[in-house]
Amino acid sequence: MRSFGARDIAVDLGTANTLVYVRGRGIVLDQPSVVALDVTTGTPLAVGHDAKRMAGRTPAHIQVIRPLKDGVIADFDVCEKMLRYFIEQVSGSRWAKPRMVICVPSGITGVEQRAVQEAAEYAGARKPAFIIEEPMAAAIGAGLPVQSPHGSMIVDVGGGTTEVAVISLGGMVAAQSARVGGDVLDDSITQYVKKEYGVALGDSTAEEVKVALGSAWPLADEMYAEIRGRDLVTGLPKTVTVGSVEIREALEEPISSIIDAIKSTLDRTPPELAADIMGEGIVLAGGGALLRGLDQRLANETGMPIRIATDPLYAVARGSGQALEEFEVLRGVLFSSGDQY
Ligand SMILES: Nc1ncnc2c1ncn2[C@@H]1O[C@H](COP(=O)(O)OP(=O)(O)OP(=O)(O)O)[C@@H](O)[C@H]1O
Ligand SMILES: [Mg+2]
Repeated sequence: MRSFGARDIAVDLGTANTLVYVRGRGIVLDQPSVVALDVTTGTPLAVGHDAKRMAGRTPAHIQVIRPLKDGVIADFDVCEKMLRYFIEQVSGSRWAKPRMVICVPSGITGVEQRAVQEAAEYAGARKPAFIIEEPMAAAIGAGLPVQSPHGSMIVDVGGGTTEVAVISLGGMVAAQSARVGGDVLDDSITQYVKKEYGVALGDSTAEEVKVALGSAWPLADEMYAEIRGRDLVTGLPKTVTVGSVEIREALEEPISSIIDAIKSTLDRTPPELAADIMGEGIVLAGGGALLRGLDQRLANETGMPIRIATDPLYAVARGSGQALEEFEVLRGVLFSSGDQY
């Protein structure tokens, strides 16, 4: 078998953020999955952070697009352009085609998976692009012993999806992918502020409110913040003071869906593996793991110990990168279309 060369890369193509790991170097790129397009010509004007900063602030001829939704590709062309841009940033050459491992949510259809593979290949990856399922990558990245005959449970709360999986002997024994994550939390805040205060919030403001005030469990010191939006009646800018208790209420429904996904996966876990998880605890990864009190809430609802992975936003990229570094050992956790290899 051919071995992986120096420019091999692993890509965590996330709904909110795309991360690129280069073999031998580690994570070299971490950018929002956002593209600003000139609608008259279809060319990207900005990608990543620069594009995200434009969101909600554009004139008519510029459109800010997030090409992924709920963990899957919603706009293929834009996604391919974004990936191409990121790959060029890290590989430094338009001509050399890197080998690539790319992540997909566990619950996606064959068609959706094929779309990710094709986007990677069109964007410059050598064929075939290898696929790794996000919860497997997150578990490896969080340092869980995925190859051993020992049950580990990983919960990756991303922007688009929450991936829950019980892993043993290099495979997923029970798994669930729920299309609820940070984006739905942001929407719940937007809906709440609209209903209670008659104020419209921009997407990035809702996300800032979530990070500043959001929680899933009562806080020792509840907080307040002034948030700015547009009064829906007068159309003028308006500032309202909102508290962490209200925001927690606003987030209750999606948080419950996340918890239900975890509980129903636990329900389907064989007893021996459940006992292992009881010992080692459930590990949280993804940006959503940073929501205040999510660990306490989960501990309370499941009776299991909970641990947050180190740098939870990096777990999937680190794990896919490790699959590249230890390709021979971890080959079993990767998929390819199989035909060309
Ligand atoms: N401190 C925080 N508190 C709450 N949420 C946070 C925090 N920091 C980041 N997030 C949220 O985490 C999400 C991004 O996480 P992540 O990068 O893991 O998602 P993703 O991998 O792009 O999405 P997916 O895996 O669903 O495709 C965003 O919704 C962001 O608002
Ligand atoms: Mg993710």
